[in-house]
Amino acid sequence: MTIASADHDTIEMELDELIPTLSLKEKVAMMSGKDFYKYYFSVDNRQFGVRAYNAGGGCEEIDLAPLSYADGPRGVRLPNGTTCFPVSMARGASWDVDLEHRIGSAMGVEARALGLTLLSNVCINLLRHPAWGRSQETYGEDPYHLGEMGAALVEGTQSQNVMATAKHLAANSIENARFKVDVTVSERALREVYLPHFKRVVDAGCATVMSAYNQVNGHYCAHNAHLLRDILKDEWGFEGFVHSDWVKGVYGADAAEAGLDIENPEPTFFGEDLVHAVKSGETNEAVVDEAVRRILRMQLRFSRAADPRSYSTSDVGCAAHAELAQEAAEKSMVLLKNNDILPLARNGARIAVLGRLADKVNLGDHGSSNVTPPYAVTPLAGIKNLVDRHIALQSDTSGDPIAAAALAKNNDIAIVIVGYTYFDEGEFIPGDVALEEVSGEEDAHRGGDRSSLRLPQADVDLIRSVAATGTKMVVCVMGGGAITMDEWSDLADAILMIWYPGMEGGTALARILFGDISPSGKLPFSIPAYESHLPYFDKHADDITYDMYHGYTLFDRESITPALPFGFGLSYTQFIYGDPTLEMIDDIALVRVKITNRGAMAGAEVAQLYVGFGNSVIDRPKKLLKGFKRLELEPGETAVAEFTLDRSAFAHYVERDKCWRLDPVPFEVLVGPASNLLKPCQTMLIWPE
Ligand code: GLC
Repeated sequence: MTIASADHDTIEMELDELIPTLSLKEKVAMMSGKDFYKYYFSVDNRQFGVRAYNAGGGCEEIDLAPLSYADGPRGVRLPNGTTCFPVSMARGASWDVDLEHRIGSAMGVEARALGLTLLSNVCINLLRHPAWGRSQETYGEDPYHLGEMGAALVEGTQSQNVMATAKHLAANSIENARFKVDVTVSERALREVYLPHFKRVVDAGCATVMSAYNQVNGHYCAHNAHLLRDILKDEWGFEGFVHSDWVKGVYGADAAEAGLDIENPEPTFFGEDLVHAVKSGETNEAVVDEAVRRILRMQLRFSRAADPRSYSTSDVGCAAHAELAQEAAEKSMVLLKNNDILPLARNGARIAVLGRLADKVNLGDHGSSNVTPPYAVTPLAGIKNLVDRHIALQSDTSGDPIAAAALAKNNDIAIVIVGYTYFDEGEFIPGDVALEEVSGEEDAHRGGDRSSLRLPQADVDLIRSVAATGTKMVVCVMGGGAITMDEWSDLADAILMIWYPGMEGGTALARILFGDISPSGKLPFSIPAYESHLPYFDKHADDITYDMYHGYTLFDRESITPALPFGFGLSYTQFIYGDPTLEMIDDIALVRVKITNRGAMAGAEVAQLYVGFGNSVIDRPKKLLKGFKRLELEPGETAVAEFTLDRSAFAHYVERDKCWRLDPVPFEVLVGPASNLLKPCQTMLIWPE
């Protein structure tokens, strides 16, 4: 519950009086984390994320404790049995901002119960290429979708008076090269593609931003004054503070001048070096005063805000949060193919559950987003829990294609669980630059970017072996991003993308497979027909150039048909769209479309609105997502999806004039169930001068 602006003024006045009384040493001491290495090397046996960390701030004069920090996007990363939600990318597939707000609130409750004041859970880096190792931690490929989902998580988290962190500013989308890669990106591509979602979460009141490890246009993000000062603080009016990513990314005390307010996890440079820089005149003390003001401003605003409820350790991993994790898993799974085999009948059919992942707890990355829940329901356990009493269920989790085929042959349906684990994709922490010594072969391959978007060969072999038996097959795919399926998709009678589905993922999967609920997820990224259709990607790049195009905007420009388009997802029911209408009310465009559930089953539909720029005289994407609405509809029910658009949805950035401009051309407005299934409004939209 944020405090009233009057209290903001009071805080500013208090800081006006307090800051001049602090010594330079006291002020600089607030600008870095403390004791990380002490605990990591001498107490925690080199285990990361086993405690909350001192991430800077605090002021003895006003009895204010330092920031108590933990990650992460999937839940609170502390070893207390916290709730493990489906990964962010899965939640991105739900397109459900209300749900994301509730998840943020639940994470905030658990953070408060564990004494945290800063939660690093809002990862919104744009998915430029699906091979990015940390795809699972963000929501998808589109800036508008990223911004809406990220803002919902910020608002939910901060509703419990925990500061959220939006990360990693900016253009952090190659994992193995993240500590070094220099991303060259034009100002227009930065403004229109790589920053809008950060502005959206800043406008939503996000208290803090984490600078990325990589460079942008020749400057490390922690030292990038154009990003941190010109854009974030000056132009956007960001009132919070910027803290660095962990261990790397800060290379000198001059980062303070560039706009970095806190160095994490320790004062490598924001200690004696910064004091010396101020005393020598290299750094103006006003820079330190501003950083201290930003830090204390946020700490006081959040610590003084009235709490909406009480907090106790019984909230951590509680049943209500597990139910929320299950709801998120149910709403995130995407039905990609269904030859009328799903939903499965609950009685009679003999079912084999197969695959090396079928009974594996597979929650995602083991890096900073890792969460250790009190329990986790695997796909096999979820299916058993739901139907074991009715169905002759057999299983083989060896992953051996011959054993799987032998079992499939004697059953009516084969449910095959395939996909990735944290070995295949995730945060990459090589021993030489970070804290974790890479020991042994296994760890050496842990995480990082993917070298291929295909399923592991063992999974493809398993699918082919089961298909050869002629038994009907449902393939359930686990992972955090796009996986190409063309080499085996014809062999499957149904395909479900089930992601890293969180602690109740097996329960959710079973409810979808057996028709308790209809799948409603839609892809938050495009899946290419061929990897060659994607932008250039090099996991070891020293430098790379990002332009305006990737995902569906690239496919539109090149007239390429993806294997599976952005926004695509099937249902067990059918939704019929009426003709979208558009009317101008003052300076707002109001778009409406009727949607009817024509099937016999309740379901949810995600209606998407795109603005078409086909008449534009400048180089820009053919269309861009500018709205989405998730509607829950009973059989036969009709509802109206309403969208409002203002000029900003149509503007483009003019580098020469450093401003946004509106083309005086007609714009199309299109609505539909997926980026490739759109109906245009009858009238085009021309904005009055
Ligand atoms: C990592 C990650 C960042 C995380 C931080 C602290 O390197 O890049 O997302 O918040 O360290 O764990």
